[in-house]
Amino acid sequence: MEVPSKIDFPWIDYPLHELTEEEVWDIVHDFGTATKRAIDSGFDGVEIHGANHYLLQEFFSSFSNVRNDFWGGNLEKRMNFAIEVAREVFRVVEEYTPKDFIVGYRISPEEVHGDNIGYTWHESQQLVNKLSTDFEFDYVHLSTNDYTATPNDSDKNYAQLLGKGVKKPALILIAGGIHTVEKMEDALNDVDIVSLGRPSLIDPQIAYKIKTGQADKIFLEFNEESFKKSHLTPGLIELLANTDYFAMPGIEYLKTLTNTKLDDVVTHDGTK
Ligand SMILES: Cc1cc2nc3c(=O)[nH]c(=O)nc-3n(C[C@H](O)[C@H](O)[C@H](O)COP(=O)(O)O)c2cc1C
Repeated sequence: MEVPSKIDFPWIDYPLHELTEEEVWDIVHDFGTATKRAIDSGFDGVEIHGANHYLLQEFFSSFSNVRNDFWGGNLEKRMNFAIEVAREVFRVVEEYTPKDFIVGYRISPEEVHGDNIGYTWHESQQLVNKLSTDFEFDYVHLSTNDYTATPNDSDKNYAQLLGKGVKKPALILIAGGIHTVEKMEDALNDVDIVSLGRPSLIDPQIAYKIKTGQADKIFLEFNEESFKKSHLTPGLIELLANTDYFAMPGIEYLKTLTNTKLDDVVTHDGTK
């Protein structure tokens, strides 16, 4: 696996490859190629995934990036990979798309695991400020496990703290535990848009139901009725039934399905 720095990650038991400066530039260009592919495929926008320990976050993190070149050494240089990826994505977008093509950036507000501190919200606030100042991002998307969470050194939540860094007109989004209409309304006090992971797997019509005044008909957990309308594939059922970290409301129902032969139970709208 490609990494910024080949340090000892005790939990990784496969070979790591520390990227050369040239290889990092190749990856920057790959982001442009991927963007072009999304445009050619008819997508309305792309989101640069700088969260959840993916490569962009690894470069921003002082824990996983101990380089001493253009790509690391101090906060400014740890931002360079995100900045150059953004530059390349916007170069492609400006060349090939209409004006309303959407570009977002997803970020984990902090990387703090006990004593291992990759970056705090103070640094990520500076990164989102830099990105939304230098580029015309449509939004910044905060990736959390719990949208109400606060850092150790503030009683404000991450949306409030990073929101201060995001330069308008870029919007701010948050994901993480927003699983009821009440929580959506609560989160919307601090952000422009809420982002739904598990709720949209449980009820793919959730946005449509909200828009059409049918919020009372949203399925909030897996059960026999919601499952029939969820269009889940066998692989996804198996995954969701066994995913404890992002446990699904109604996971017990999914587990009963995986105990049966999946071919017999997986139906779309109740039909085989
Ligand atoms: C089954 C499942 C798979 C996921 N896979 C990824 C992934 O591959 N990459 C990623 O960045 N986040 C992944 N996530 C996290 C989601 O992007 C989201 O941040 C998380 O589910 C919290 O939002 P929620 O409470 O609305 O579900 C996954 C979540 C679930 C439930």
